[in-house]
Amino acid sequence: MSDAALDVVEFLLTTSVYSDDRTLDENDLPPSFRQVFWTGGSGGSDAGSDGDDDGSSRRRAGISRPLSATNATAREATGIERPWEAVSELMFTERDEFSGTITITQRDLAEEWFLERVDDERLLENPTLAKHFEDHETYDGEATHEEARERNRPIQADRAWIDGLLEEYFDEEEDEDMLDLVEVRAPEEVEITLDDLVLTDDQENELDKIAKAIEHRDYLSQIGLREIGKLLFVGPPGTGKTSTAQALARDMDLPFVEVKLSMITSQYLGETAKNVDKTFEVAKRLSPCILFIDEFDFVAKTRRSDEHAALKRAVNTLLKSIDNISLIEDDVLLIGATNHPDQLDDAAWRRFDEIINFPKPDYNMRADILQVITRQMKIEEFDPQLIAEATEGLTGSDLRMVLREAVLEALTEDRTTLTQEDLLNAVEEFEERDNLKNMDMIEGDHEALVAGGDIGKASDGGHSHGHDHDHDHDHDH
Ligand SMILES: Nc1ncnc2c1ncn2[C@@H]1O[C@H](COP(=O)(O)OP(=O)(O)O)[C@@H](O)[C@H]1O
Ligand SMILES: [Mg+2]
Repeated sequence: MSDAALDVVEFLLTTSVYSDDRTLDENDLPPSFRQVFWTGGSGGSDAGSDGDDDGSSRRRAGISRPLSATNATAREATGIERPWEAVSELMFTERDEFSGTITITQRDLAEEWFLERVDDERLLENPTLAKHFEDHETYDGEATHEEARERNRPIQADRAWIDGLLEEYFDEEEDEDMLDLVEVRAPEEVEITLDDLVLTDDQENELDKIAKAIEHRDYLSQIGLREIGKLLFVGPPGTGKTSTAQALARDMDLPFVEVKLSMITSQYLGETAKNVDKTFEVAKRLSPCILFIDEFDFVAKTRRSDEHAALKRAVNTLLKSIDNISLIEDDVLLIGATNHPDQLDDAAWRRFDEIINFPKPDYNMRADILQVITRQMKIEEFDPQLIAEATEGLTGSDLRMVLREAVLEALTEDRTTLTQEDLLNAVEEFEERDNLKNMDMIEGDHEALVAGGDIGKASDGGHSHGHDHDHDHDHDH
């Protein structure tokens, strides 16, 4: 019997067991099955039967029983082109020609057939069946419901679930600007991992600590330790603050909720305080998750200046919401980031229990970063140490730009293999551009302009330039 049959029978059994056992919830279905039966948050008329707790007319997103198994749903869930053909020979299956529904006619036969072919590893990927079989007399394996639940990706990490939730909270027309203020990413949509980042020892220690705290949050709650789980990433632009937060989300399989404070402009003020509130509500509903608030200096700036009262109100709402959210109670890890720590006031600092420094990379880190970002490239005579020497003051993001430049330059000669020389030229190019960029800001600094002309000869071994790039211009990459 083919694997296709096993896949389809698993699907049939799962839909049948799930439909009957009301103690099972969405997190008991494997993600590929959930996707098939997920219905979005608004619009449709057949309201989800379990969504009546808030009395609102809006339909709750979710999965409603019974789950129907048809050729179409089975195909979508299993990826098998002709599901019915795969199981039509079995004596316990039947297909209703009219509705297309595939059913199991004799559950005990189907279960026996399935148990003969499934192993524990596979059963652990399906909490619905793990629960069904764990106490089953004919099952003698070790798989448990608990372990299967633990292994199964939580529904909060599914894109469909996130979209449904956002729709439920934010009216598309009314809150259009909201979509600029907050962005939610499923962990699977985050591309960067911690392996792609070169971290300082200090950063690694702090991240380890927080990972441990998350793992043991029941214990922390029990001993009354609640002031934990609010991190502030501090450092110049391009030093990996955003990437690190995202990589954490991806590596810990948590949804990533990003708030962009600069999007709070006077234009949308009427709704902003309310939307800030909603954002935190969404984060709580998505929990466990990471709530990332970039450009945190915006908070302090707003409180200082004599801005619009409504803008201040929005910012105060934000601070209050931060106070009211907790890793221990709400399973929300809050990460703030700022390029301008000097602009933060006490009220802002006070909100965070760990400050993590993101300095510009030193020589060794630059060499490591160069190694990491060139992993997929072919480079002749590659000497990252030498490049690291020539790139003092550059950030990880600058180094990426240098590499990009080198790749594009080589492509103009139809080369996909780079040379060390290409990289050194790209460094020169970058330095020149960086100088010109800074020039804009230094009024009438003609001498600097002239000096910029021979910046390129930096590879002479001596680092007479000792340039500390002033990256105050927020080039956000
Ligand atoms: N320490 C680092 N290791 C590897 N890549 C880095 C590092 N710092 C920055 N980068 C790269 O530079 C780019 C910009 O980083 P980002 O996280 O947006 O910086 P920030 O948020 O601090 O401005 C990203 O592509 C990132 O991968
Ligand atoms: Mg950033």
